[in-house]
Amino acid sequence: MSWLYRHVARPLLFTQESEVAHDRTLAALALASRSRFLRGLTEALCDVPPLPVAALGLRFPNPVGLAAGMDKQGLAVPIWQAMGFGFSELGGVTWHAQPGNPKPRMFRVVAEEALVNRMGFNNGGAPVLAQRLRHWKNLGLWPIHPVGINLGKSKITPLPAAPGDYLSSFSELWEEADFFVVNVSSPNTPNLRQLQDRDALSEILFCLQERNRLLAAEYRKPKPVLVKVAPDLSWEALDEIVEVALAHSLAGIVASNTTLARPLNSDPVATQLYREVGGLSGRPLRQRSTELVRHLYRRSEGKLQIVGVGGINSADDAWEKILAGASLVQIYSGLVFHGPLLVREIVLGLHDRLSGAKWEDVVGAEAH
Ligand SMILES: Cc1cc2nc3c(=O)[nH]c(=O)nc-3n(C[C@H](O)[C@H](O)[C@H](O)COP(=O)(O)O)c2cc1C
Repeated sequence: MSWLYRHVARPLLFTQESEVAHDRTLAALALASRSRFLRGLTEALCDVPPLPVAALGLRFPNPVGLAAGMDKQGLAVPIWQAMGFGFSELGGVTWHAQPGNPKPRMFRVVAEEALVNRMGFNNGGAPVLAQRLRHWKNLGLWPIHPVGINLGKSKITPLPAAPGDYLSSFSELWEEADFFVVNVSSPNTPNLRQLQDRDALSEILFCLQERNRLLAAEYRKPKPVLVKVAPDLSWEALDEIVEVALAHSLAGIVASNTTLARPLNSDPVATQLYREVGGLSGRPLRQRSTELVRHLYRRSEGKLQIVGVGGINSADDAWEKILAGASLVQIYSGLVFHGPLLVREIVLGLHDRLSGAKWEDVVGAEAH
């Protein structure tokens, strides 16, 4: 199918404007999600072998997950498992429904296997997502792999009111997901990244963790909460985030979101696309996000688990993140440029590279 994706599906998709192609693909996947036959066919074609790992206090069938932003509204929840993903992160979702930025707002840089986007958290709001997730559960189509939710801030909510905005979404969705990612690093909501500052982040995490303990009450465990960081932060700012994350008993850090930086020396077509405002993902982000994973792993001394995301296009790329300290990895742009068989390729490749070693022993093996 990789050949089929590269030579048939991808050329067809790439004749369409990026977001149109994304929406049509997701609509098709949403339909496939409802069909037992199509789910089974997807599973048989993708054929991802098991590579179980334990992380964040959860069990994962394999360490390769779907990154946030692909299925913001939980439209195709069952299909991600059928494709062989070891976990999925839905959202970003905000408390208030919002349309996002004006279109066009997503651009492909094909020669560099990169995307530039300024979506701006287009989504139907947390209450609608919660309802949709309950619907999947009622249909008996909830995946067996862990499902996370990426939480963003509503554009209309002023920064000082951010904790309440995140808390509303968290409370509404708490019952529905296995873990939560606090996204304070999207470059496409004005001033959102200021919430990565120590005091602002501390206040948000304090509120969420207090509610987390309350909702878990006596007989259930609090849900793992992670924070997602921008690759454009300084090492000092990242160190502060590690301190805050530890102080608030977070389970881990997702590194990283898209970057505002642009590669030098690109061809004229790429250079033109790179002038678009927004966050860059895909191949050019790979190295920087691996550096972040390594830094965060070292600083947190194994007390936080790192989810590595950014420019993963192959098993080698995923392995690089794991040796740098990632316990789990995620893909977004790689799926666009290489298709769904990338998950199988990565899991098989990791299996070979592990060659019998324990997961815990390879995570961070080259971080020092
Ligand atoms: C179109 C698009 C939308 C995204 N939306 C979100 C989002 O809502 N929340 C978030 O935390 N990250 C979002 N991301 C970032 C991805 O989750 C990921 O961190 C980033 O793309 C780097 O991974 P990649 O190089 O594999 O694409 C988005 C990325 C893209 C390309």
